[in-house]
Amino acid sequence: AAASDHQAETATISQGTVATNHSGYTGTGFVDYTNVTGSYVEFTVRADAAGGASLALRYANGTGADRPMDISVGGKVIASKVSFPPTANWTTWATKTVNADLTAGTNKIRATATTTAGGPNLDKLTVGTTADTQTPTR
Ligand code: GCU
Repeated sequence: AAASDHQAETATISQGTVATNHSGYTGTGFVDYTNVTGSYVEFTVRADAAGGASLALRYANGTGADRPMDISVGGKVIASKVSFPPTANWTTWATKTVNADLTAGTNKIRATATTTAGGPNLDKLTVGTTADTQTPTR
């Protein structure tokens, strides 16, 4: 399947606000996580079929410290304390990718801050099939 974009500002947000005060975001804004442990953004992603998918999170971190997050699918953490390292300033955006197994139908994909600093600023999630990122072998 083709890659699909899911904007953070239209996802389910717990302890975070939609903001537009730093340029370079896609869509209509980004999520500014509240600076607490446990703040999260949860995307609802539909998959045509079960299988591996890449989850690319576009973010900015204008601080000097990592902003790690747990990534879960359907309530199960599939990558813990994933590093979201500094991006030089809040208008410099980077992408962090993890791989996950999705189920056919609805998948709840959540990115939860694991430190009291909260998460980085989060722009969007791009879901691609793992196959898209692999060099074809034939
Ligand atoms: C600053 C910045 C915000 C960011 C926040 C943070 O206030 O303007 O965009 O979310 O720092 O440290 O999380």
